[in-house]
Amino acid sequence: MHIFILGSGAREHCLAYYISKSPMVTQLSVWPGNAGTNNWNIPKPESIDVLDWIVSLHVDFVLLGSEDGLVKGYVDYLQKEGVLVLGPNQSGARLEGSKAFAKTFMERHQIPTATSKVFTRQERLEAEAYIEQHPLPIVIKADGLAAGKGVTVAMKREEARQALRQLWEGNVFGAAGDQIVVEGFLKGREVSVFVLTDGKRYCVLPEAMDYKRVGENQQGPNTGGMGAISPVPFYTENVKKYIINKVIEPTILGLQKDGIDYRGFIFIGLMVDGDQASVVEYNVRMGDPETQVVFPRIAEDFLPILLEAAKGELSKTEIQVRPNCAITTVVASAGYPGAYKSGLEIEWPNDMPAGVQLFCSGVTQKGDQKVTSGGRVVSVTAIGKTIEEASILSQETAKKIKFDGAFYRKDIGKIYGD
Ligand code: AMP
Ligand code: GLY
Repeated sequence: MHIFILGSGAREHCLAYYISKSPMVTQLSVWPGNAGTNNWNIPKPESIDVLDWIVSLHVDFVLLGSEDGLVKGYVDYLQKEGVLVLGPNQSGARLEGSKAFAKTFMERHQIPTATSKVFTRQERLEAEAYIEQHPLPIVIKADGLAAGKGVTVAMKREEARQALRQLWEGNVFGAAGDQIVVEGFLKGREVSVFVLTDGKRYCVLPEAMDYKRVGENQQGPNTGGMGAISPVPFYTENVKKYIINKVIEPTILGLQKDGIDYRGFIFIGLMVDGDQASVVEYNVRMGDPETQVVFPRIAEDFLPILLEAAKGELSKTEIQVRPNCAITTVVASAGYPGAYKSGLEIEWPNDMPAGVQLFCSGVTQKGDQKVTSGGRVVSVTAIGKTIEEASILSQETAKKIKFDGAFYRKDIGKIYGD
């Protein structure tokens, strides 16, 4: 089979790496890719639109890594052209593309989540009044896609007022901020749960925890993710049961009731408090860097399962998972998540210890030299018997990836309490 993967992050490198191992694959193509996917990268003629180009390649299966294409309706287009593709159509992708849609979906289907109210720009006075009387902390979210930066968790009322001003006066997220969601604060610890569904049946993948803040001890601004672990110690059997019964089942049934034919990943961000959990957000794709710890733990050829989901014929409800621990540490460019330099030469480790795999994101090949081309540069995944073992292995390798200003969090694997 000829498989095509769209994307250029460490997530897509990881997807490509594991999919390439499947005996079903005769050809693998990645675009735009990065230096890590060099073996599979193919060039796109500039003159042609990306979707028309994919159709013209006559591949057997397409995987879309990020939410952008899903929210824009790439799946609808490709399906119309007869291409087998995994991912929700535009209607399903609203679970991530509109936080207001996700909240009303959860309310409609009684899925536990923070209380919330949606306001449009025209309802500014009402929004301001609501913020003034709401207990603190309070959470202000831009409705649309904002690259993970559209959320303010305000500890003080003035921060909430400022968030509103930035959205509606500063216009920092443009149309993505036309509507806002004002939400109650959820306490607890966050876990990322991944579900693969064909619209009717589903498999739950290994869970993960993302280290979102740029600095150690959960300090500094939010990033796309500075590291991840799997399994997650506080994701107990009871928590898992709660999430399956109260969140996953009603989500799949809710999609069906709403007439949405959802075939793809649902990545549910949840706040766990004791044995219970509430949904923080839905994403309609795999996470980055979570994929880099989830895929290494899948113990069987995942490609046939992905194909079944895309065809609406999922035959499994369980997947085989390795009992080991996976940790990924992200090596990033100085300045990230703000402005950073690109084109810096990277010193690459010569030999990789057993159990370590590098997944590239902001890495470009320039002749024989690898240079930086992004905020997050390399995701260093290590497998160990315990979190400690995997953490040491991942950190020791991250230390060997050198470029001017390279940094990484030294606490990936530490579990912060609440
Ligand atoms: P989101 O983009 O909705 O996932 O929000 C980004 C981050 O903000 C989440 O990963 C949480 O850490 C935090 N967050 C969002 N909503 C809430 C909430 N209602 N209560 C507490 N923290 C939240
Ligand atoms: N790491 C969070 C995300 O992929 O959305």
